[in-house]
Amino acid sequence: MCEVDLHDRGDLPHDQLLARVAGKQGLLSVVTDAIDRGVLEAGRDLKVVSTIAVGYNNIDVAAARERGVIVTNTPDILTESTADLTWTLILGIMRRVVEGDRLVRRGQWKGFALDFMLGSDLRGKQLGIVGFGRIGRAVAARGAAFGMRIAYNSRRTPADSSLNPDSRFLIPAEPMALDRLLSTSDVVSLHCPLTAETKHLINQTTLMRMKRGAYLISAARGPIVDEAALVWALENRLIAGAALDVYEREPEIHPKLLTFENVVLSPHLGSSAIETRTAMIDLAARNVIAVLSGQPAITPI
Ligand code: GLV
Repeated sequence: MCEVDLHDRGDLPHDQLLARVAGKQGLLSVVTDAIDRGVLEAGRDLKVVSTIAVGYNNIDVAAARERGVIVTNTPDILTESTADLTWTLILGIMRRVVEGDRLVRRGQWKGFALDFMLGSDLRGKQLGIVGFGRIGRAVAARGAAFGMRIAYNSRRTPADSSLNPDSRFLIPAEPMALDRLLSTSDVVSLHCPLTAETKHLINQTTLMRMKRGAYLISAARGPIVDEAALVWALENRLIAGAALDVYEREPEIHPKLLTFENVVLSPHLGSSAIETRTAMIDLAARNVIAVLSGQPAITPI
């Protein structure tokens, strides 16, 4: 049995989090909660921080380790859902579905025409995946069904045993240096974690390397893309378009991104399918219960 102090409506302001974490042994949190040194200091009784997410850039894991606080996340169960959402973005931008929807709602559709709202086919094109972990590989696996060639760039080398050997051989994907991936891919999809190295990985320089007809897709973490640089690249038509699910300062979005027809913007929906969210919440709760009852965490970081 444990007592629960529940906050379930909107973001919890940081000062309230600091106040309410005091005296608690477990913390169940979401991506918008900054679990920094201050929170760990205020929650000096904490034994476990369990985030309902796979990404944990919002948690100071090193500070937690120093204090012996176990941090857990929800890997695997959201992989397929996030890969599906990524493909929703790829298809949505390349076949201009969202732009078409806007036009229809404005009452501007004049009827079928052979040259109307032409998008791009996927077959025969190259999908470049930056970050070839679980989600990157699930996105790659779907690429074959669309007849795309897959290239990937990963921090891990293919010889690294942490890159699951089965899926490495099942998915015909070519490892590539980032520069080459950017300059040869028709679709560049980001699936790396947000770290000090990947912050603004997509910037003016890397955007300039992309093909003029290429699309940028991101369902990873907002700060991997320098939004101001992306606006600049779109204004200068350096790329064909972008589809984003995540932003640098959510829920704010660079206002100019809202003005491009060749941009699709979804509100951080990566894992937001009812089955997936239910499984994530269940696993995160079980992680807290496991640690607080003296068992090993199920999915520790
Ligand atoms: C969501 O953004 C997650 O990391 O699970």
